[in-house]
Amino acid sequence: MLFTNVWYIAEWSKNVTDKPVKVKMLGHEFVLFRDLAGKAVCLSNTCCHRGASLAQGKRQDDGTLSCVFHGWRFDAHGRCTCVPSAVEPTANIPASARVDSYPVEERHGLVWVFLGDQPETAHPLFDMPEDNNPEWRRVTWSGTWKSNVHWAKMVDLDQVHLHIVHGIPLNKDNPSRPSEHSVEPLPNGFRTHFISHPPPPSGSWSQVRSVPTEVRSDLTFYVPGFTLYGRIQIGKAGTGFTNVFYSMSTPIDEQTTEMYLIAFRNFLLEEDKDDDHLKRNLRNVFQDKAIAEAHLPKRAPDVADFPAIKIDREDLLLQSYWQLMRELRGRGWQIDRLALDACEANGEVRVIPSPSRRQDPTNWIYPPVPRIAKV
Ligand code: FES
Ligand SMILES: [Fe+2]
Repeated sequence: MLFTNVWYIAEWSKNVTDKPVKVKMLGHEFVLFRDLAGKAVCLSNTCCHRGASLAQGKRQDDGTLSCVFHGWRFDAHGRCTCVPSAVEPTANIPASARVDSYPVEERHGLVWVFLGDQPETAHPLFDMPEDNNPEWRRVTWSGTWKSNVHWAKMVDLDQVHLHIVHGIPLNKDNPSRPSEHSVEPLPNGFRTHFISHPPPPSGSWSQVRSVPTEVRSDLTFYVPGFTLYGRIQIGKAGTGFTNVFYSMSTPIDEQTTEMYLIAFRNFLLEEDKDDDHLKRNLRNVFQDKAIAEAHLPKRAPDVADFPAIKIDREDLLLQSYWQLMRELRGRGWQIDRLALDACEANGEVRVIPSPSRRQDPTNWIYPPVPRIAKV
């Protein structure tokens, strides 16, 4: 269950240079590189001429990317500007000599790419107010999970598992019972907050709280990057000492997810506390990873068929998540996996459609991925 028309993280900014790099998202290959102005560019990786991998090519001095096979050059818009073997290499270039180029935004050290053809309807990107702020220290991590993106988000959003998996008691009388919470919709996701009763933090963090107290957690889900943004109170009430994390997920394909973590803290700001901060966040990440990777089925079923047994005081965050997935499907953004499997079994190349296809739906060598019709 994969969706087009969403902003996804393609790579850390520092890894995108003038040397092309291949990334896989939504089951398709893309190439990232920087143009002469240093702006990150994202193109579909399959050359429209004979199907070579553009990531094996070279960024030329004119800012274009040349294909490894016959040297066709493609600009940041994906248009072919030069066919070296032609009598006049830069004249009479066929209209279909182009590849899809996707909108790119760089923020907070991440390269975001909009994978779809309707950017005007996109859920807007969010900001990280803690970034580039001297009151906050930042740590980062990324890694690949052998789990589809939805199981990865379930182990982020689910409330009961906080106690069962991570040992965070929710309620005093029954630590596994979900806390009272309600969900507020946002233009690009939804949010909630609730109270839990964790023991005081151990080790160096015990300096900021050594006594049991109620702890407030604020959780926001953003469609861009399939992001869970958490603000977890660490210090005593009134201190404002908080652990903040952005857990962002890019579907590599139907069964694999690239996870990006950026965490901030506004206490114990010394650099030598960074490792401990990251370790504390990764402890939860790896507990979740083990569960998500073992989860069946490996591919998430279409949301309409998602099975569940309901109990009282359901986890509203998860319900909101599946409701949102139904909305994305209803907008006609879900890739029709069965139809795509049939195309690929037939040896056809399909690509994620870019915004240029709406202005001119003809003159493309590879057709777009089939999508489930809008309702
Ligand atoms: S395959 Fe790319 S230029 Fe021929
Ligand atoms: Fe978790």
